[in-house]
Amino acid sequence: MSDVIRFEKKGAIGVIIIDNPPANALSFAVCKGLNARIGECMSDDDVEAVVVTGEGRMFVAGADIREFGRTRPDDVPDFYDVLKKMEASVKPIVAAINGLALGGGLELAMGCHYRLIAPGAEVGQPEIKLGFIPGAGGTQRLPRLAGVEAALDMIVGGDPINAAKAQELGVVDEVVEGDLMARALEFAAEKAASGEAPLATGARTNKISGIDAGVFDAYREKIAARSRGLDAPDEAIKCIQAATEMTLEEGLAFERDTFVKLRDSDKAKAMRYMFFAEREVAKIPDVPKDTKALDIKSAAIIGSGTMGGGIAMNFANAGLSVTMLDVSEDALSAGMDKVRANYASTVKRGRLSQADMDTRLGLISTTTDYADISDADIVIEAVFEDMGLKKKIFAELDAKCKPEAILASNTSTLDINEIGSVTKRPDKVLGTHFFSPANVMKLLENVRTDGASIETVASVMKLGKTLGKISVLVGVCNGFVGNRILGVAARITDFMVEEGALPWQVDKAIYDFGFAMGPFTVNDLAGIDIRFLTRSEQRKIWPDRRHPVLPDKVYHLGRLGQKTNAGWYDYEPGQRRGTPSKLIEDIIIETSAELGIERRAFTDQEIVDGYVLSMANTGADILQEGIALRSSDIDVIWHYGYGFPRYRGGPMFYADLIGLDKVYDAVSRLYDSYGDWVKPSELLISLAKEGKSFADYQP
Ligand code: 3HC
Repeated sequence: MSDVIRFEKKGAIGVIIIDNPPANALSFAVCKGLNARIGECMSDDDVEAVVVTGEGRMFVAGADIREFGRTRPDDVPDFYDVLKKMEASVKPIVAAINGLALGGGLELAMGCHYRLIAPGAEVGQPEIKLGFIPGAGGTQRLPRLAGVEAALDMIVGGDPINAAKAQELGVVDEVVEGDLMARALEFAAEKAASGEAPLATGARTNKISGIDAGVFDAYREKIAARSRGLDAPDEAIKCIQAATEMTLEEGLAFERDTFVKLRDSDKAKAMRYMFFAEREVAKIPDVPKDTKALDIKSAAIIGSGTMGGGIAMNFANAGLSVTMLDVSEDALSAGMDKVRANYASTVKRGRLSQADMDTRLGLISTTTDYADISDADIVIEAVFEDMGLKKKIFAELDAKCKPEAILASNTSTLDINEIGSVTKRPDKVLGTHFFSPANVMKLLENVRTDGASIETVASVMKLGKTLGKISVLVGVCNGFVGNRILGVAARITDFMVEEGALPWQVDKAIYDFGFAMGPFTVNDLAGIDIRFLTRSEQRKIWPDRRHPVLPDKVYHLGRLGQKTNAGWYDYEPGQRRGTPSKLIEDIIIETSAELGIERRAFTDQEIVDGYVLSMANTGADILQEGIALRSSDIDVIWHYGYGFPRYRGGPMFYADLIGLDKVYDAVSRLYDSYGDWVKPSELLISLAKEGKSFADYQP
């Protein structure tokens, strides 16, 4: 018998314990073992009732996602059939939900006749977050227990609910304050002794009868905006509707077909990949899990501008005290005004209480004196990008801060090795690159310098977790991972506009691909002046490459984006949504003529491929240089830092899905048009030749 299922007999009650760490996932082995034990309990005359529970802090976290895509061995039953068998059992089966019951875990509990739950446990159907729907009866049984509206919220929303809510909705029968197992045994014995037929979830109909079909259309409308590009939400609604219109058997079959179709789709593959990718980022080969990390309890931020203030808010939000240092009281007071306004708008939207805002503000202090930050565990410098200034600040910090303090820079372009060279503690210097707005964006690029010790690396990775960020470790290079890739991809779209596309066509193609905004809209939002500086820098770094001329023309017109009500688009004052500008269109056409380019039509696919595959090619260079640890780290950066749609999985996954031989051909065509920006990466060439993917690459 498989050791992932333990079995004990407590008098006349058979107890099945799922013991498959870390998540008690329903692997093939669990399914096989569970089926066998249920079968034994059914045929053993000494067993009058059954209790199913989980070992450790989970009940069951769902089907084993790692096994998706593998063929089920012949001797393993379908989980869906195991549940049918359980539901049909004449002996009562009780789920003792000791911890998280998610996905197939909740389906297992619903396949039991009764459910008891520990107060701290939660239940949910999170499949939607993986791009599919429940596949073992969740869409049919949950509405029978909780009603249609709650089932829609739980299945389409995907968030778990706590024990009290589960009881209120009828998902569970009892919340057990004391010893869960003792009560489950007692409950099972009572049910067996009662002589009444066990209550099968699938046989219940009172909560699914007489439902107006309009409920489903209304729900569809309600979620339309937030489910753009996703297939699973609409399919989940159809399945729940099926529960109200079909027999259980028909509904289960309908759900099953839908589940299989969605599970095997590229979008679900991408979302599953992202699930593991964002867990993988925490694993750093030469920094073992038990590396001693500094317990960061206080921080100081140098610079109280937009970035500095946003970073300070992160610490205050996590309950840590933080001091902002700037050159003058005026600068500090302007910085604090912005922080206050930021919090106030969250309070106004009802997402933060006034009391919490006050507590957080109370954690932020200000100073102009370095002596006041000498005790901070970490100092993050967030002043403007000037190497001389940063070196001066780091020398001062090195002299004033306690020896164990970590000194970090929020630079997005400068060489942190050089910044750290002015200190006597290069082992404690590294980059913490926050994304703007720093209090909102989840991504943190932690930039490892040549001298940073593994303890320092472990400390900032842990800090990221404390601050609720997704931290990705990257190496030092111009723009690190995210901005270096963006620098190339955005430039390709500039070229496409010079050659025949229009900014709004580019933006629409990229929006339709799934990004929240296209690059020209982003540029208008961020300010065309910002890219102006980057571009002049890059002209110096790469004098021999083609550089776009249009963005500078727009800049020189004083059209700096939304803040001037004019950029690539025209804006009505106070409006964030722009309209295509006739003036810009004329300038574009004029510019193409000046450049001697005969404008041609671009298809949307060509635009998306130019944008995304140029990203993947730069990503391949980054991977080969060891700036990113793995291709999935690049994808995590692009999802959390730049809104790459999760259901596309990031540029590297997207390229892998197409196949690197085809990607190589496409990149070669881009190279012919745009030169060295998209010179096919050596890594891309070699992986394409070997028929491998970026995910296969091991440095
Ligand atoms: N399958 C395989 N592995 C799983 C898993 C699952 N369903 N759930 C968690 N794990 C693994 C994680 O990959 C991780 O492995 P690692 O240590 O090797 O990196 C380990 O369990 C611990 O997970 P976390 O690091 O995420 O631990 P947390 O405590 O932060 O979170 C959790 C626990 C909330 C359970 C979270 O892991 C989670 O959300 N898991 C996925 C739950 C889910 O989506 N279930 C539905 C699966 S699909 C399904 O059931 C289909 C059904 O309808 C037929």
